[in-house]
Amino acid sequence: MNRKIKYGLIGGSTESSIGRKHKNAINFDERAELVAGCFSRNGDTNKAVGDYYNVEPDRVYGDYREMAEKEAARKDGIDFVSITTPNFTHFEIAREFLLNGINVVCEKPLCFEVDQAEELIKLAKEKDLVFAVTYTYPGYAVVKVMKEMIEEGKIGKVINVDAEYLQDSMLDQIGATDGSIWREDPKQAGISHVFGDIGTHIEYFVRYVTGLHIKKICAISDKFGHKLDINDNMLLEFDNGAHGTYWASKVAAGYLNGFTVRIFGDKGALEWHQQTPDYLKYTPVDAPIQIISRGAEYLTEKSANLSRLPVGHPEGLTIAFANHYRNIITTLIKKKNGEKPTAADLDFPTGEDGLEGIRFINAAVKSADSGSTWVEM
Ligand SMILES: NC(=O)c1ccc[n+]([C@@H]2O[C@H](COP(=O)([O-])OP(=O)(O)OC[C@H]3O[C@@H](n4cnc5c(N)ncnc54)[C@H](O)[C@@H]3O)[C@@H](O)[C@H]2O)c1
Repeated sequence: MNRKIKYGLIGGSTESSIGRKHKNAINFDERAELVAGCFSRNGDTNKAVGDYYNVEPDRVYGDYREMAEKEAARKDGIDFVSITTPNFTHFEIAREFLLNGINVVCEKPLCFEVDQAEELIKLAKEKDLVFAVTYTYPGYAVVKVMKEMIEEGKIGKVINVDAEYLQDSMLDQIGATDGSIWREDPKQAGISHVFGDIGTHIEYFVRYVTGLHIKKICAISDKFGHKLDINDNMLLEFDNGAHGTYWASKVAAGYLNGFTVRIFGDKGALEWHQQTPDYLKYTPVDAPIQIISRGAEYLTEKSANLSRLPVGHPEGLTIAFANHYRNIITTLIKKKNGEKPTAADLDFPTGEDGLEGIRFINAAVKSADSGSTWVEM
């Protein structure tokens, strides 16, 4: 039975922010081999990175289109591609690989327009391809425990959600003009900076753990002299009638990557912090507060099995990504071997989740641009 597959990487040069993390995460379970890539827009960097990653020179491509066509034509071509380039490139690159019959894993936000996302989803369905989108944080083991506990009714009916994703990387740029980073350029980032870059992580995370969809949103943005939003406050109404607040910011002093989610139910509450990702705070209404640890013996077998390192040894971002890739790669291997993936195998964010992210960005920007009116998702 074939237990290994091959993949290619778009972006992911050694100096990129996230692409290299994908490679490390895929490598974690050693079931997929990097054999092809178009790692950088810079030709010299592309070649040097291919060499560094040990990819045969004839499979280091100067252009993603050439890569999709040539890999599709090879008998030993790649089984999937991971797209880790800036936002504005995602649609064209994903489309090209799907058209060539290659499974796609794409970074978020998936693309710019709802109809682009719908086109990609349709294409993947028609060609029976896996189409995943890497919203990182639900890959953490304890986040899956959080989801399980909410499903089991441990906090009762969800009545309020409060979440924040805070960074301070742009605090020194309040009132400054836009710099050269692509995230500040609407042509490359899209209609939003912060709603798209970190707000979408909140949107998917809350939907993943609670199963609730945002019904409508009321947002206010601060641009502080920039073309796009860098500080966003949001009021939400969910499809079960519950309300919530999200705050996404790049100007929150002292916060490096402060992603916190609090879910309140009528029987208790759950709280998770990205910077201590192995722990979950559980407040049952009729008992003392509990701190639940990843991998602990008191967890269900399903939850305990998600743990990758011994308890007390912190896991991190690479493993959160690796957990998504474990499921994606298992799904691909099973499909290749004619087996049916299980629901557990299929537990990774998909193109449909990417589409919901685009709807979220569009609604949030529309609300903020129209004087903070309520906008239906
Ligand atoms: N899931 C997460 O937690 C997470 C974290 C950070 C970034 N991201 C997403 O990842 C994407 C990339 O962000 P980043 O911060 O790594 O950007 P980056 O600018 O650090 O790196 C992008 C890389 O892509 C390369 N590139 C650009 N266009 C290319 C093309 N046409 N062909 C080949 N290579 C190309 C660049 O040369 C660069 O090496 C964005 O969509 C961002 O939203 C996701």
